[in-house]
Amino acid sequence: MYPYRIFFLIRLEKVEIAPPWEDGVKLKPRLNAARRALNIQGESSFIVLGNAKMLETQGRRIIHLEIGEPDFVTPANIREAAIRALKDGNTHYTPTPGMLELRKAIADKTANDLGVEVCFENVSVTLGSKEAIFAALASIVEEGDEVLYPNPGYPAYESGVRFFGGKPVPVRLREEDEFRMTPEEVNQLVSDRTKAIIINSPENPTGAVLSKDDVKGIVEIAKDAGAYVVSDEVYRYIIYDGLKHYSPIQFDENLENTIVVDGFSKYYAMTGWRLGYVITPKHLTEPLQLVLNLITACPSSFIQVGGIEALRNGSSAVKRMVEQYAARREIVIEEVSKMNGVHMVRPRGAFYGFINVKEIINRANINSLKLASILLEKYGVAVLHGSAMGSFGEGYVRISYANSVENIRNGLRIMSKAFNEIAGF
Ligand SMILES: Cc1ncc(COP(=O)(O)O)c(C=O)c1O
Repeated sequence: MYPYRIFFLIRLEKVEIAPPWEDGVKLKPRLNAARRALNIQGESSFIVLGNAKMLETQGRRIIHLEIGEPDFVTPANIREAAIRALKDGNTHYTPTPGMLELRKAIADKTANDLGVEVCFENVSVTLGSKEAIFAALASIVEEGDEVLYPNPGYPAYESGVRFFGGKPVPVRLREEDEFRMTPEEVNQLVSDRTKAIIINSPENPTGAVLSKDDVKGIVEIAKDAGAYVVSDEVYRYIIYDGLKHYSPIQFDENLENTIVVDGFSKYYAMTGWRLGYVITPKHLTEPLQLVLNLITACPSSFIQVGGIEALRNGSSAVKRMVEQYAARREIVIEEVSKMNGVHMVRPRGAFYGFINVKEIINRANINSLKLASILLEKYGVAVLHGSAMGSFGEGYVRISYANSVENIRNGLRIMSKAFNEIAGF
């Protein structure tokens, strides 16, 4: 047994650790974590990354296809703007919803790209889109409220809803629909307790892109049900095949039930900056900003200056990066099509391949978590098990192609060999 194996198993199991009251562990009265904190399922990609890094410290060479992060460094003009801001002494608190100039730049970009006039007052700047999701859910979800969310999907939705006492209702995304969240599927799940419908297009992990009719249909369902649509648009410019991104805000004339969440991490390659924003209907602006005030007071000042530069002068860099993702996507499609026993729906956006490995795991009598751990431990390729993205993600593994062509090709070829060995083809 390798010396790292024990560590590895512990780290993965930590994701599914049973709360102490289910474990029968006796703790002193009150010296225990709140249930709501234990109910959270974190992003497993960070745990897989930690495991992979641990193997690297032991001298192993790992190809990283697990983490959803651009391999590009943030464009130079954006970095320089933030450095200038620091040098100029821009080191103070800003208003909770962010600098006026940044909020206005976000409103301008929304008008420009989505054709929707939004007042800057409806814009609140956050620490990444993750905080935007959390604050949005904090502002609307009450005990017992049902919230529909895409499954497989970004895990923060399900955990966030549960954290606030709501009931997460998974909308199953199906391969036969190219993993799009269809209005038909949503319609079957909406009830008089539905408080919100979360959508994410382009989608993590499937790369699905909702059509105009999908988005419009979901907005109509939400309006009829008196529910919000929370739209996570962090991949909105990373889209291929000439497809267009649609936002529910385009079909919500009075801006009354749409909440748009967006961030700078993915398309501007600014993951480490932690910058995002949320656009809310007027009646939610104040409660949401109170939540932000409670958690963070305001986003970092010089980081916001970088954000202004990104919005004003970042689009050509975005275009260049998206061209590279598009070329890498072709490599993923080509390599996966050559593999035995697996297949993949063509990703239409974002930078993930969601590979159906059901035949491999059925033959080997394992699950996607075990498959991912074998790929990492034995073959040195880090991928994310599909079940990390929700119950309907089981049977898949996610790879990120925000990586060099060489790493993508090598990683996928090693996976191909591994699948043959594991499944006994
Ligand atoms: C769909 C989706 N939403 C939100 C986020 C969070 O991004 P950030 O907080 O870096 O803006 C991610 C990150 O992977 C994501 O995939």
